[in-house]
Parts: sequence; structure tokens; C-alpha cells
Amino acid sequence: MRIVMIGAGYVGLVSGVCFADFGHDVVCVDNVAEKIEALRNGDIPIFEPGLQELVKSNTEAGRLNFTTDLEQAVAWADVVFIAVGTPSRRGDGHADLTYVYAAARQIAKAIDGYTVVVTKSTVPVGTGDEVEAIIREANPDADFSVVSNPEFLREGAAIGDFKRPDRIVVGTDEPRAIEVMTEVYRPLHLNEGPLFFCERRTSELIKYAANAFLAMKITFINEIADLCERLGADVQKVAKGIGYDKRIGDKFLHAGPGYGGSCFPKDTLALVKTASDADSPMRLIETTVAINDNRKRAMARKVITACGGSVRGKKIAVLGLTFKPNTDDLRDAPALTIIQALQDHGATISAFDPEGMDGARALLKDVEFGPDPYAIAAGAEAIVLVTEWDEFRALDFRKLHATMKAPNMIDLRNVYPPQEARRYGFEYVGIGRSG
Ligand code: NAD
Ligand code: UGA
Repeated sequence: MRIVMIGAGYVGLVSGVCFADFGHDVVCVDNVAEKIEALRNGDIPIFEPGLQELVKSNTEAGRLNFTTDLEQAVAWADVVFIAVGTPSRRGDGHADLTYVYAAARQIAKAIDGYTVVVTKSTVPVGTGDEVEAIIREANPDADFSVVSNPEFLREGAAIGDFKRPDRIVVGTDEPRAIEVMTEVYRPLHLNEGPLFFCERRTSELIKYAANAFLAMKITFINEIADLCERLGADVQKVAKGIGYDKRIGDKFLHAGPGYGGSCFPKDTLALVKTASDADSPMRLIETTVAINDNRKRAMARKVITACGGSVRGKKIAVLGLTFKPNTDDLRDAPALTIIQALQDHGATISAFDPEGMDGARALLKDVEFGPDPYAIAAGAEAIVLVTEWDEFRALDFRKLHATMKAPNMIDLRNVYPPQEARRYGFEYVGIGRSG
């Protein structure tokens, strides 16, 4: 199959590279020329484990190419995936579909022979209809189908998620498109996970429903964590205890500083807007959004309490800036809100992240960045673990204690057993653990 991926970002690049790795011929298109130039030279613009090696081997094998020339690529393709961003629209929280529709207009001009146009971007119900109308209007003679095929990969685990998905959802009822999409996914389908066909609108909604459900699950356990702190229970054991029940499942029950990232925050908001426009409000998700927004600033209050009620003039060291480990993505990262709130209360901030420092330098003001956890902890009155990178899992507590002004540890990911930190003289606060 000749596959074109429009948008060489977290989703487009990973999907394109993985399709190539399964033997398809793939061209990744992006309108940022420097990105394409870098990719041609084997430089990967994002941090995603395993991606660099896969780009290299598939480029060398001749199955993977990069270009800015969308029209030439589309004319060549059997299948064109749209994998551009759909961020929150400023002001109202709806998904901003500017990039999707711009891509559709560009595709329309170039279609040559039967082409399946696939929205892989997360898009509200009805977007496929609009993409189809845009192409039909711009090129009435084009022979094409528009299919929805949402992506469920997670950053940091993207290649594994893409290659071994729990399911592949394809929204179309056109027989020719079903045949093409079956061929596209045949190598993955043989691996694992059902290829689930449904109507296009249903497929579009499945994506939002999945993300909203996961966001709600995290928010539920975060509220249970707060209750645990009040009542003297342990949230990790509650999560384990309920997670054994297969109807509940043990995934996405890690209490923390609130979900962040490029998708849960924007997708929950967009679903709320879609539902309210359809006069079918989703109160559970409205509440999820509100609780999660409050939670990030509440984490700053936790730090302030641990520091004796004030952080004014105190240095606070922040470990981990990205929204989760194994990515350099800082979009809606809880650390950004927590740092701002601490600064608002007069703290000075030092910070370290294994992959997020370049991005953080551009986003954060008046933060002192250091080369490792020990350097940023020097003279600090608290160390706050915000993102659970592996390299923060075996900190040398003696070394930290020796360098800090006051040995407070606020572990927002429950990485450490409280006794371990306390054994080295730390005042330790976790999430949802009274002990
Ligand atoms: P991203 O911002 O990392 O990448 C989008 C890319 O598209 C950018 O490189 C941009 O330059 C390019 N682009 C925009 N318009 C273009 C055009 N007309 N022609 C060529 N290139 C163009 O975004 P992302 O994180 O990969 O997300 C893409 C979509 O996938 C979103 O809808 C998102 O919700 C969804 N999604 C993301 C993830 C994730 O983990 N990031 C997972 C599942 C679904
Ligand atoms: C999420 C979904 O998991 C993917 O299935 C989906 O494709 C993607 O959004 C998307 O649509 O973009 P991602 O945002 O990359 O993936 O990362 P997650 O692992 O889901 O984490 C999201 C946030 O929730 C992070 O801030 C993470 O720390 C937090 N989280 C996750 C918790 O606080 N507790 C958990 O138990 C799990």
C-alpha cells in the first residue's frame, strides 16, 4: 500500500514509521520545512523511545520518505492519513479544525485515482462529513472515500501501542474503503486486537468517549486519594483492591497531580462543548474537567503546607516537567501550573527534567534549570517530584539531604514508600497516603 501521512508530529510520525516497518511504502508530509529536513537527516524532532532507530532502518530500506510537497505525495497515494493537530480553539474550548480543513483543501486538488482519505487526528463528530464536502466541492470528479480512524497510542509508549493495539477502530461503511483499510492494517491485525468497523460518526465519538472515560477514571482515583488523606487510608491499596475486579481493571488508577498532556485536557473540553451544543450535556465530564483544573493548583497548596504554611523567599526544587515520563511534551503539563502557583506565592524555583528542559526554558520564566536532581536541590527547602521518570526512582537520599536547606519531599507520584524517605531524615508527603 502507498500511504501518505500528513503531519509528522507525535501521531503522524509514529504511525508513518510503524506502517513502513510493517512493509508499506510511506511518505510523511509536514509543512514545517525544517522538520522535514531534520527527518531526512535522521534527526528526530521529538523524544519518543525507539523512534530514532525505526526511522533510520525504514529510511535506509527505502520504505519511508519525507517531503513538504503534499500534492505530489497525495497524487501517488492509495491512502492519505490526516494527522495534524486539533488543539483547543481559543476562547470556547471546541476543537480547532483549521489544520484539518486546510489539509483537506490541499488534498482535494491532488487526488489522482481512487484514494481513501483518513482522519487520524482526533476530531469531533461530523468532521468526516465536512472533510468529504470540502473535497467534493473543490474537486467534483475526485474518486475518494473519507474514513475515520482514531489513534489510541500514548506518548512514551507510542511504538508498542501502535504496533500492538487493543483495537483498531475504522469508521466507514463503504465496501471499497473497508477493503483498503483492511489491507492497511492487515499486518497489525494479524498481531493482536480486533479491527472494528463502524459508522464514521460512531468512530469519531469512540475516540472522545475513550479519552473522557480514562480522564474520569484518573480523576476518580484522585478524589479517592484526597479522601484517603482525610480518613487515614492508602490510595495505592484502594486502587489495587478495586483493580482486581475485572469490571474495573487495574489501569489508570495511579493517583497524581492531575492528568495533563496534549489530549486529555483538550479532548474532555471538546466533548463537553459538543455535548452541550447537542443539548445532551455530559455533567460527569464537565465535573472531571473542573476537578482536574483545580487539582493542579491544589498540588501547590500541598507544597506550601509541607513547607510550614509559606514558600515566600524559599527555594523549591521541581523534579520532572513533562506531563508524563518518556516524552519531551510539555503541553498542559501539571508542573507548569504548579510552578506558576508556587511563584505566585513568592517561591523561587529550580527545576530539572531529562528531556523537557529545552521546551521548559521557552515556557517558564524565572526558573533556574540544573543538570541533575542534586544540583537543583542545593539550598532548597523542598523537593517536589512531579513526573515519575525512571531516573528519579532511586535518588540518593543522603546526598539530597546533605545539600538541601530543609529536607522536605513532596512526592506527587507516590514513587517512594514514605518510610524510605523518612529513614534518611526527610519530612515526606505523598498522595492519598496518610502514613
Ligand atoms: P503535533 O502538533 O505533534 O503534530 C502535528 C503536525 O502536523 C505538526 O508537525 C504540523 O507542522 C503538521 N501540520 C499541520 N498542518 C499541516 C498541513 N496542512 N500539512 C502538513 N503538515 C501539517 O500533533 P500530535 O500530537 O501528533 O496530534 C495530532 C492529532 O492526533 C491530534 O488530533 C491529537 O489529538 C491526536 N492524537 C494525539 C496523540 C498523542 O499522543 N500526541 C494520540 C492520539 C491522538
Ligand atoms: C492518552 C491516552 O492514554 C491515549 O490512549 C490517547 O491516544 C492519547 O491520550 C491521545 O488521545 O492523545 P497520553 O496523553 O499520551 O495518552 O498519556 P497517558 O499515559 O494517557 O497520560 C495522560 C495523563 O494522565 C498524564 O498526565 C499522566 O500522568 C496521567 N495519568 C495517567 C495519571 O495521573 N494516572 C494514571 O493512572 C494514568
